[in-house]
Amino acid sequence: MPINSNGYEPEKIAQFQTILQDVKRWVREVGKIQRENLWKQNLLIETKSSEVDLVTEIDKLSEEYFLKAIGENYPEHSILSEEAGENEKTGTLYRWIIDPLDGTTNYAQGLPIFAISVALQYQQETVLGVIYVPMLDLLFEAIKGQKAYVNGKRIKVGAKSDLKECLLSTGFPYDQAQNPDNNTNYFSHFVPLTRGIRRLGSAAYDLANVAAGILDGHWELNLNLWDVAAGFLLVEEAGGKVILLEDKRGVSFVAGNSVVADKIYQEIRSVDKKKQIVS
Ligand code: IPD
Ligand code: CA
Ligand code: CA
Repeated sequence: MPINSNGYEPEKIAQFQTILQDVKRWVREVGKIQRENLWKQNLLIETKSSEVDLVTEIDKLSEEYFLKAIGENYPEHSILSEEAGENEKTGTLYRWIIDPLDGTTNYAQGLPIFAISVALQYQQETVLGVIYVPMLDLLFEAIKGQKAYVNGKRIKVGAKSDLKECLLSTGFPYDQAQNPDNNTNYFSHFVPLTRGIRRLGSAAYDLANVAAGILDGHWELNLNLWDVAAGFLLVEEAGGKVILLEDKRGVSFVAGNSVVADKIYQEIRSVDKKKQIVS
């Protein structure tokens, strides 16, 4: 279906709205499982790409729920999900992008900061995004062209323009010990320029907070599509801006309101330039 300057046709939006109702039910169910198992005795924890890249039995259980629910309700759709990878179906225009538990390190430690991130792409564009924060029962949702909401209430990015007043968040890649391009240079650059920097440990929750104007901006290097697909749509539908750092590895980006995103971007580029001069 063609998109016009206002977004998708009403019939398409209605279809996305119907799918959204399913997603909201699923994330609440999975969130309940995650709440009930936080602080579980002998929680099974394994490592993945590095010693600090963890997966727990609850990541896997959560993912199984989504794969089953999508398989039963939308069997023709493709799915990219963190632990199971890509399940591509031929002839479909739809692809789900799922991070069943974003904030696994926190979860494994018993720190109650984590989220569920579910996005749906239609013709390779993200048209639906939900981020659910189980411990706070916060459900962030957006449909392309239809604004962003938390628990049904409209959200907008913050209105600040001076970095000195901004509270930003960031994260560090799982290859932090192996790759020197691990964000510590940008982190130390921003510390004196801002009100503060948070490292919450869940990129999806960080982006949801940017969309809601609770955090003023976020930047991060080397994430995956499942970490950010829903969050990017939320930020944009909340009136914000995402700028990709295309020359860096993985999904690297800055996000905020348009002024703050541009300023964070410029600062990152100024650090890059200094590095080039020194080396
Ligand atoms: C991680 C979190 C974290 C970010 C990591 C991500 P996971 O996702 O979003 O905040 O800094 O790099 O990979 O592994 O907990 O799903
Ligand atoms: Ca993640
Ligand atoms: Ca995850």
